[in-house]
Amino acid sequence: MVPLRIGLLGLGTVGQGVVRVARRNAEEIARRAGREVVITAASARDPARPRDCDLDGIRIEADPMAVVQAGDVDVVVELIGGVEPAGALLRAAVDAGKPVVTANKALIAEGGNAIFEAAAAAGVPVAFEAAVAGGIPIIKALREGLAGNRIDAVVGIINGTGNYILTRMQDEGIAFDDVLAEAQRLGYAEADPSFDVDGVDAAHKLTILAAIAFGMPLAFDAVTCEGIRGITNHDIELARQLGYRIKHLGIAKRRGDAVELRVQPTLLPETELLAKVDGVLNAVVISGDAVGDTGYFGPGAGGDATASAVWSDIIDIARDTQGGARVPALSAHPEGIRALPVRPIAETRSSHYLRLQVADEAGVLRAITSILADHDISVEAIYQREPRGDQDAVIAMITSVVRESQIIEATDAIAALPIARGPVNRLRVEHPGD
Ligand code: HSE
Repeated sequence: MVPLRIGLLGLGTVGQGVVRVARRNAEEIARRAGREVVITAASARDPARPRDCDLDGIRIEADPMAVVQAGDVDVVVELIGGVEPAGALLRAAVDAGKPVVTANKALIAEGGNAIFEAAAAAGVPVAFEAAVAGGIPIIKALREGLAGNRIDAVVGIINGTGNYILTRMQDEGIAFDDVLAEAQRLGYAEADPSFDVDGVDAAHKLTILAAIAFGMPLAFDAVTCEGIRGITNHDIELARQLGYRIKHLGIAKRRGDAVELRVQPTLLPETELLAKVDGVLNAVVISGDAVGDTGYFGPGAGGDATASAVWSDIIDIARDTQGGARVPALSAHPEGIRALPVRPIAETRSSHYLRLQVADEAGVLRAITSILADHDISVEAIYQREPRGDQDAVIAMITSVVRESQIIEATDAIAALPIARGPVNRLRVEHPGD
């Protein structure tokens, strides 16, 4: 089958991420899409500017409309942002019968009703996973995974810049303006940062989530929108003394026959899941009548993270072009599935928690640590409470990352020591993402 040809509108943070992911994951993408996917053209306001991606083989145009209309572009990926001219470009793509993928939350939230109507009439998909919560596949979760539920509420931290600002204010007592300047330097903030701090960006995203959750038209103008400019370090400290965290939330709730749509700074009990989501991360909790509450968190911005969502939409479109089941059961098309060797557990590597019950005698610690040292195992942390009376000593430790067979041999040797008063309790320590 011939490759599916992509035209990118915009080579900013997300556009460059889309190219990088294409370079890195071309083979995986082809296996999952069922056909090769290539980027043939891209538009950039300043084509000569150096970019952090390999643009080899991609034709660069200064005029985005030239990319939309190009004969070697089958799918248009709009990453310009803002309502216009992005809207005109998207409509031109739809009129030309070209599927569109967009990360543009403002355009979908404010103009999506008309766009979807035109796209349906033309029989062309318009996909927008990247428009909400960056890399978190929240639209897929709502639209596919939870499709059997009546959705009662969607509550989330859906602006990473705002969450970053509140977190730094909370943890380090830094003033609002200083943290905002830093977020802008790090590239998380919108071109107009008032969109972040006044809640407009979150309101765009909430509008989209609510429309999908409740099966209603996009209703951006109906969202009550309050920002975080008025939050002081003092508020944050007082809230903490009371056992709360202040988070900037988007809230969409079903109330009888109506819904509530709000973006607002909110005190959350510190034990709540959303209260613990800090920094630029986004998180969303969805309440469904059948499933109850489900939570999703991850990077809500950034080039490669947002590109992850863009590529999921492109792959869906590529799958659609081949008929049959839109989402293959095992994600890869059957001909793309390959057996992989599974590593034996003895060869896996991990850090371990050890709990040892031993006689409370001089030299016990030395005997244990010398066995660990003989097996090339380092102790990263150690804890022992003072034994009372003639109690045994209980020692807990965390080891360095070692091969499973190493730690088994070492703990067997420790358990065989005359001072051991029971088996060594061993648990693996997992660092998600390692
Ligand atoms: N400015 C947005 C944020 C970027 O901070 O979440 C992604 O929409």
